[in-house]
Amino acid sequence: MLDVKKIRGDFPIYQSDKPFVYLDSASTTQKPQVVIDAVSTYYNAYAANIHRALYEIGEKATDAYENVRLKVKAFLNVPDTHSVIFTRSTTESLNLVAYAWGQKFLKAEDDVLVSEMEHHSNLVPWQLASKKKGVNLDYIPLADDGTLDTSKLGDLISSNTKLVSVGHQSNVFGTVNPVKEIIAAAKSVGAVTVLDGAQAVPHMAVDITDIHCDFYAFSGHKMVGPTGVGVLIGRTELLDKMDPFMSGGEMINTVTMKESTWNDVPWKFEAGTPNIAQVIGLGAAIDYLQLIGVDAIHDHEQSLLKYGLEILSQNKDITLYGNAANRGAVIPFNVKRVHSHDLAKFLDTDGICVRAGHHCAQPIMNHLGVSATARASFYLYNDKNDIDQLAKSIEKTARIFA
Ligand SMILES: Cc1ncc(COP(=O)(O)O)c(C=O)c1O
Repeated sequence: MLDVKKIRGDFPIYQSDKPFVYLDSASTTQKPQVVIDAVSTYYNAYAANIHRALYEIGEKATDAYENVRLKVKAFLNVPDTHSVIFTRSTTESLNLVAYAWGQKFLKAEDDVLVSEMEHHSNLVPWQLASKKKGVNLDYIPLADDGTLDTSKLGDLISSNTKLVSVGHQSNVFGTVNPVKEIIAAAKSVGAVTVLDGAQAVPHMAVDITDIHCDFYAFSGHKMVGPTGVGVLIGRTELLDKMDPFMSGGEMINTVTMKESTWNDVPWKFEAGTPNIAQVIGLGAAIDYLQLIGVDAIHDHEQSLLKYGLEILSQNKDITLYGNAANRGAVIPFNVKRVHSHDLAKFLDTDGICVRAGHHCAQPIMNHLGVSATARASFYLYNDKNDIDQLAKSIEKTARIFA
C-alpha cells in the first residue's frame, strides 16, 4: 500500500480539519501542490504566448509547453512526438477525430463500431458523424457482468467497418476492456482504431506502442492535472492526411486572402493560443505520478477495490453492479429505497463525496434497468478508512429511509 498520510501531505485540500472523504476521482481528481505551483509559476513568472514571442519569457514558455509533449511521449511510450496533440479534454480529442477524420474519410453505408459501454463523449460524436455522413453505427453489446460481449466481434466487424472506437476502462464499472483483441479484429479489416483512455491513463501503465491503436484520448484533470487540458495521440500518417479541426492562429503555414496552407502536425491541430498553463500543469502531474509510480498506484487502488467490494457486499441493502475480472477501482452501486441523488446528499453531510447519476453513460443505465447509480472511485490519496466511513454513512442513511 502507498503511504497515504504522506501523499495527502502533497494535496492542499487535505490540509483542513473538516471531514473529507473524496471518492469521486473517476469524475475529477484532487491536485497536488506541485501541479498548482507549476500553473501559478507560469502565470507569476513567465506568462507569455508561445511559438511567437522573441523574448526570454516567451522562449521559456514555449520550451515548457513543448517539453510536456516529450513527457507525454515518454510516459505512454508514444512512437513519435509529433503524434501528441494538446486539446482541452478527452471530449475534444474524440470530437477532433470524429470531425477531422470522420468528415474526410467516412462515406455513406460505411460502418462505425462503438460499444454499449461508452461514455457519451465516445458515443455522441459518432452518432453525429453517422447522421451527417449516412454511416451505420453499430455497437459491441454489454454483458450483464459489466464486460463487453466480444464473442459477437466476428459478426460485428466486416470489410465495411471503417472505424472502431471503444473505451479502455469503463467509467461506470471500471472494466478494463480487451482492447488488444478489439484492435486486432479491427485491423484485420483495415479499420481505424480509437481508444478513449480517460479512465485508463490515470490508473495503469499504458503503452501506446504496444497497444498499437491509431488514436488515443485522455484528460489531464483525471490524473491530478489541471482542468482544460486533454491529449489526443494520433498516428502521424493519419494526422497528416486529415484536415484541421479548428482554424486560426499558429495552425497555418501560409495565408493569402484566398486560401491557406497548414502547419505541420501536431500544431495543425492546435489552433489559437493554446492552454499553455494547463499543459505545463499536466507536465507536473505526469512528473508527480511517475515519482509515486504508476504501478504502485495501480496496486494500491486494486487493494482498495478488493476491500471496498468486500465491505459493501456485506450490506444486504446494497446492489453492486459489474463483476469484471480485470477491473479498475470503481464501484457502482445502489441502496434499497434510497435514490442515489439522495444518498449522495446524505453522504455529503458526513464529508463523503461520491458521484450519483447516469455517469454520462445512459445506455448502460438502460441496460441495468435503473435511472442512476451511486459510484465510489479510488485514487492514490484514498485509504481503507475512507471505505469504512463510506460503509458507515451508507448504513446510517439506509436506516433513515427504512
Ligand atoms: C471514459 C470517459 N470518457 C470520456 C470522458 C470525458 O472526459 P472529459 O470530461 O475530461 O472530456 C470521461 C469523463 O468522465 C470518461 O470517464
